[in-house]
Amino acid sequence: MEIFRASNVTKRFGALVAVNNVSYSLREHEVAGIIGSNGAGKTTFFNLLTGMFTPDEGTIHYRDVEITHETPQQRVTRGVMRTFQLTSTFDNLTVIDNLVLAYFRAHRKASLLQLFLNTCKQHRNNEKITAILETFDLKDLRDREVRNLSLGEKRRLEIAMTMLAEPKVLLLDEPLAGLAESEIQAVLEILRRQMGRQTILIVEHKISHVKDFLQRITVMHEGSIIAEGGYDECMSHPEVRRSYWQIDIDAETSAEAGS
Ligand SMILES: Nc1ncnc2c1ncn2[C@@H]1O[C@H](COP(=O)(O)OP(=O)(O)OP(=O)(O)O)[C@@H](O)[C@H]1O
Ligand SMILES: [Mg+2]
Repeated sequence: MEIFRASNVTKRFGALVAVNNVSYSLREHEVAGIIGSNGAGKTTFFNLLTGMFTPDEGTIHYRDVEITHETPQQRVTRGVMRTFQLTSTFDNLTVIDNLVLAYFRAHRKASLLQLFLNTCKQHRNNEKITAILETFDLKDLRDREVRNLSLGEKRRLEIAMTMLAEPKVLLLDEPLAGLAESEIQAVLEILRRQMGRQTILIVEHKISHVKDFLQRITVMHEGSIIAEGGYDECMSHPEVRRSYWQIDIDAETSAEAGS
């Protein structure tokens, strides 16, 4: 069932058409990705979905509700979506206390300070929080201060905090950026555990990172969608091959494709 749809959306910056008449939809529980070269318009399109930008033309729907003009906060409050870029960690608190705060921020309206003074300790054993520690492999890091985590561990925590809000759609713009190979595998592994239960859209520059993970790939180039489907299907698409050198694929794949 379709959960989310952008219809003919266009976003201009002055004379530049960053997103050009793009139509895109997500089905419930799908794990989809948008890839493309630098400046293809991926982040701009992502920002149209989150509400950071309003399209100059076109509409965005969540199920049957038009949300084109809703702010990011309105969309988050509706439970439509969540992106870890909108989630901030408290670096001098522990992993578990960050999760407690994220949980309450999502489910109650108490002030953070009040929460922290009165209730943080009592909720460290909350069922949902315990479960998320397990799912995101954060159990051993539970009492570690966030500032002492590696970038990969911190990214796992950020996604875990995002998931505590139980968003209908999890939107991730370059969740693997800056991570070492082993950390990339760890992040993909925890996302894999959400498959079939969570709608996930990942925007990624490097297709090599996500080609085995995504169920459906959409390729953007110069503001437009030029191909859609499985990895092989996309990579053999004439328009993708034409703009191919601009898409950041790893050396191994490009050697294979070139031979
Ligand atoms: N706020 C802005 N103001 C003006 N131009 C912008 C703005 N944001 C993006 N652009 C331009 O829009 C085009 C699309 O940029 P966008 O960031 O969406 O690309 P991208 O596909 O995310 O690229 P990357 O892979 O580098 O992240 C680029 O030409 C960029 O310079
Ligand atoms: Mg980008």
